[in-house]
Amino acid sequence: MSEPQATHLKDYLPPAYRVTHTELKFDLAPSATTVTARLHVERHPEREAGLPLRFAGDKLSLVRIAVDGQTLEADEYEVDDEGLTIPSVPERFLLDTEVSIDPAANTALEGLYVSSGMFCTQCEPQGFRRITFYPDRPDVMATFSTTVVGDKTEAPVLLSNGNPVESGELPGGRHFVTWEDPHPKPSYLFALVAGKLEKVEDRFTTMSGRDVTLQIWVEPENLDKTDHAMASLKRAMRWDEETYGREYDLDRFMIVAVNDFNMGAMENKGLNIFNSAAVLTHPQTATDAAFQSVEGIVAHEYFHNWSGNRVTCRDWFQLSLKEGFTVFRDQSFSADINSAPVKRIEDVSFFRTAQFAEDAGPTAHPVRPDHYIEISNFYTLTIYEKGAEIVRMLRHLLGWETFRQGSDLYFARFDGQAVTIEDFVDCMAEVSGLDLSQFMRWYSQAGTPEIDAHGEYDYAKCEYHLRLSQRTPPTPGQAEKQPLHIPVRMGLVGTKSGNDMALTLDGESLGHETVLHLRDTEQTYVFTGIDEAPTPSLLRGFSAPVYLRYPYSREELSFLLTHDADDFNRWDAGQRLTMLALDDLIAAHRNGVEKVMDSRVIDAYRRLLTTETDDKAVLAEMLTLPSEAYIAEQQPMVDVDAIHAARVFVKQSLATALRDEFLAMHEAHRSDEPYAPEPDQIARRRVKNVALEYLMSIEDEEGVALAEAQVDAEDNMTDVRAALTMLVHSSRSDIAEPALKAFGEKWAHDPLVMNQWFTIQVTRPQEDVLERVKYLMAHPLFSLKNPNKVRALIGAFAAQNRVNFHRLDGEGYRLLADVVIELNRLNPEIAARIITPLTRWQRFDEQRQALMKAELERIRAEELSPNVFEMVERALA
Ligand code: PHE
Ligand code: ZN
Repeated sequence: MSEPQATHLKDYLPPAYRVTHTELKFDLAPSATTVTARLHVERHPEREAGLPLRFAGDKLSLVRIAVDGQTLEADEYEVDDEGLTIPSVPERFLLDTEVSIDPAANTALEGLYVSSGMFCTQCEPQGFRRITFYPDRPDVMATFSTTVVGDKTEAPVLLSNGNPVESGELPGGRHFVTWEDPHPKPSYLFALVAGKLEKVEDRFTTMSGRDVTLQIWVEPENLDKTDHAMASLKRAMRWDEETYGREYDLDRFMIVAVNDFNMGAMENKGLNIFNSAAVLTHPQTATDAAFQSVEGIVAHEYFHNWSGNRVTCRDWFQLSLKEGFTVFRDQSFSADINSAPVKRIEDVSFFRTAQFAEDAGPTAHPVRPDHYIEISNFYTLTIYEKGAEIVRMLRHLLGWETFRQGSDLYFARFDGQAVTIEDFVDCMAEVSGLDLSQFMRWYSQAGTPEIDAHGEYDYAKCEYHLRLSQRTPPTPGQAEKQPLHIPVRMGLVGTKSGNDMALTLDGESLGHETVLHLRDTEQTYVFTGIDEAPTPSLLRGFSAPVYLRYPYSREELSFLLTHDADDFNRWDAGQRLTMLALDDLIAAHRNGVEKVMDSRVIDAYRRLLTTETDDKAVLAEMLTLPSEAYIAEQQPMVDVDAIHAARVFVKQSLATALRDEFLAMHEAHRSDEPYAPEPDQIARRRVKNVALEYLMSIEDEEGVALAEAQVDAEDNMTDVRAALTMLVHSSRSDIAEPALKAFGEKWAHDPLVMNQWFTIQVTRPQEDVLERVKYLMAHPLFSLKNPNKVRALIGAFAAQNRVNFHRLDGEGYRLLADVVIELNRLNPEIAARIITPLTRWQRFDEQRQALMKAELERIRAEELSPNVFEMVERALA
């Protein structure tokens, strides 16, 4: 087998031939589906005449091929592993093909496959080539007409993109529906679904008064789990009209839930396909977090209708054009309808944990990569979340009104086209008059920029000097970095008043908060008229995706925790304060010295627990300790055991010192209201469960009794799951085991709940967990073929159970490598994702490094899919 080759951005050329209209017919059968295609092909006007035609095709058996009705002879075309070549074709012609495919054998879940007895497709990024021969690239946009033929009993419902225009009965118990999608689209947005599905229907009237039918299609047993997704969809549709002026453009919008799906969901035109975990909710089966994630994903996919579908990407290097913008839009939506500061805190703490780790590791890449082997490997936190941070910076640089004008210009100018990131940024530059050329480096430079800040107060002159310097560390393939244009939102908090001081810079008065534009490697800002020593509050709201260092004392952090006017920075001050204490404790653990808890942290928590606050959601965030993964990201070398021990120590010290306060907090946030996934209730439950978690960390008798009672809560999974997790992760197996068993029996019929049951068990920090992981992998309800199960069991173990995954006997690594090797054959895309923790070996001690690398080498010795090959090569480079 030859080594997979890289594709480079600099080699981009328009296709030699494009398709303007695509007619498809699917004759569905699980193991032998026939796909008949009639493509209206023409030479691309920007390419020369006489070029051979080359269309992609993967695992297709060609039955028939004709050009303008003339069947081709064997020597007039060629089919290889990657597609079809016809050396000579007319300038404009009809290409007819008939291929046979095997959806039942498709475990990769790309192209047409069977999931729980239903047919469904996944075409982004390159799945369409597993359906028919096609120029399977996003810059080829065609209108589609799709006829789906299926068995009336096996597939009573036949769906595709657009509007149904014809349907009828066929001999042999079969029937058909023809769908027409009038909006030209790239092949990656094609979708087909067929099976025994039932729907929930609703309506939406658009801003111009058009009536849209909304449908959510599910397996019959899930009909009671669609309310929240439907409500979220309607809110998202309204929000996009009110916020971005974007209206829906078809008569119907459909969502389908499928059980086997590689990602969260897919924005196919008019027919979004969702991982069932990303759409189904019910108070008894889904947690608050799941409700909120469904709300965000439904909105995300809906927003793609404009940012992605109407205006799409020229090539896959531009992936962040649609994903970064759409993530920014869904984050803003969730912020608007929930608590904005909490949404920001959640997004940033996830970002600083997971994206920072990616940007610091061997698979670091720019938001617009310049080459790839397997594009599926680039659906990353960098493309999505860092891409969203870049759009957010643009929004702040321009101000909302101007940013909105830029967005309007972008949609108007490029509607129906496949474009680039420059096209987007150029619109923003044009409406604002800003020079964004330096800003563009955010798209081409990988790595997290580091800002070092230094402040000095000059009593005599009443001046405050703030010196900021920036540096971006080298990343694979990019040794040298250039300075970026970094917006630093900041204030100076008066030490006596606790208020933001008036800011004057270069004689200009700027109000009480400003955005500094750091463009050089080092810049000093002199604030005048500062009549008392201030504490700087920097990078408010995380105004840029950077690592900020400032030598805050613990007193300053305690001060900001109480006084900072910016909720986000108040939370961040608390995190920094706790981090300083954790650093000491990690060192103490490593040196075998007795651990002593910093009383300032206890005092800060006491204040949080005893001060009345309206914003319970922010309070819950403030009370939550940084995760082990986040703490690890802050250390030069990761010592998993010391981090775990230090964090447990902090939790237990706080619980011991503040037991009564936590009990009171728990008590005050109980409620008899019937469950609703509303922000207020969600916040109450969070506070209550965070408090209980502290109590359970010392296995306080009263805490244990509360958890035991809560496991039987009837009306919501949030409380049940929280309590069950605490019990299973404690030493009280006398209570935990029967509770786990009862839970498993009660929910054996519901795969989404059983996935939670897997996760709760494999994240148990105790040493005996590895046996449990292996036992659960053999459980009849587990299967490596279902990505959700793989994530719930293997993914959760490797990412969330750090002490056990990183065991010094290497058993955790071996287990993951075994799974990667098996998944490499079954589902390369999932294999290449699940391998991630092993690729981060550089961060650990020598012994673990050697163990991790040995497992990577063992994987490398296999016959690998391009997906896993690329990940392993980058990890070992
Ligand atoms: N485009 C999808 C989304 O972000 C994600 C996806 C990518 C789904 C590739 C499937 C395959 O919304
Ligand atoms: Zn997306």
